[in-house]
Amino acid sequence: MRIAVPREVTARETRVAITPDSVARLVARHFHVSVQSGAGVGACCDDAVYEAAGARIEPDAPALWQAGDVIVKVRPPTDEEIAMLRPGATLVSLLYPLSDVDRVRAIAERGATAIANDLVPRTTVAQMMDVLTSQATVAGYRAVLVAAEASPRLFPLLMTAAGTISPARVLVLGAGVAGLQAIATARRLGAMVEAFDVRRIAREQVESLGARFIEVPQSEDAQTAGGYAKEVSDKDKAAQAAVLLEAVSRADAVITTALIPGKRAPVLVTDEMVRAMRPGSVVIDLAAEQGGNCTMTRAGQRRRTDDGVLVIGDTNLASQVAIHASQMYARNMERLLAHLTRDRALALDPSDEIVRAMLVVHDGRIVHEHLASITTKAAA
Ligand code: NAI
Repeated sequence: MRIAVPREVTARETRVAITPDSVARLVARHFHVSVQSGAGVGACCDDAVYEAAGARIEPDAPALWQAGDVIVKVRPPTDEEIAMLRPGATLVSLLYPLSDVDRVRAIAERGATAIANDLVPRTTVAQMMDVLTSQATVAGYRAVLVAAEASPRLFPLLMTAAGTISPARVLVLGAGVAGLQAIATARRLGAMVEAFDVRRIAREQVESLGARFIEVPQSEDAQTAGGYAKEVSDKDKAAQAAVLLEAVSRADAVITTALIPGKRAPVLVTDEMVRAMRPGSVVIDLAAEQGGNCTMTRAGQRRRTDDGVLVIGDTNLASQVAIHASQMYARNMERLLAHLTRDRALALDPSDEIVRAMLVVHDGRIVHEHLASITTKAAA
């Protein structure tokens, strides 16, 4: 079985799905690996290092996509990439199939198989294959550094001959994987951190990192049986907004990470709240791509308000830490490939919990239960 690793084509994407270290381990397990020339450039891995690890370098994208039985990449495939997908080949990448059904149909029309990394189940067994977790960890860390860099204030407490500087106040909204990492990173920089999440269990995790949990009166715990957040009632939203207005207004940096699976990101920071912040304050919205947690966010843009508050909607913060983000992604892919193969060939067992969750298209058929019903309805 030949694993093929393309060069990512999405703008500003610097990650690569398989790093040279992972190539060496895959080759040791008797897989063949092809890498497109230049695929690792953004993550500081050049062709020679891949070759030394045992990969074959393919000169360009058509040669690479032709060579691979399993194509492993980071970003969802573009139309041009889908056109290069061989019938019978398998694509493993982020896919966001629930929000882009046309892309899924296009893959199916190629007679290929597609596995969506973003549909990894959040279970203990799947943890080592979970790119959502590894990349959110990197993004949460990076968000704090972006905030610190953009802020005209110091983050730590400094007692100097030139006077005492109070620590910056950082507010983290959403205490999942990215939020908890942001809290830990802001604490390491010496900031005073407050955080909020609608899942009650998050309180203990926030406090264990040395941050203060913001208490909001809530009529019910907004955690589903699967451990994710669900949408809160309008009454709870109003209670949240009142408490958050005060918390946002005293923060020097607000980092928002709140998501609800399969839905638009919840709005937590309103125009009114941003207007209440002091000049020089910063909002970093990690949910920018999913519509944003802040009403002033524009995905991919940095906007300064008339009151001097900077709202940062950078997408793909993980890509700004390309070496380690790629290393973690590649490790996840190694574990996933190990799970999906028997005797060095793909063996997609539909009764397996991980396969059932992640397999979207199988040999040209849309098989994911949620999508199969959507596509049937669309055809009717
Ligand atoms: P996520 O990326 O889906 O959402 C980020 C955070 O936003 C969550 O903590 C969520 O509760 C919070 N949120 C949603 N709506 C909000 C609102 N209106 N106000 C404030 N906060 C709001 O979450 P992530 O990081 O993917 O984690 C989701 C769950 O999955 C967590 O319980 C986490 O512990 C669990 N998990 C389990 C794993 C495993 O067992 N393998 C791996 C990773 C996560």
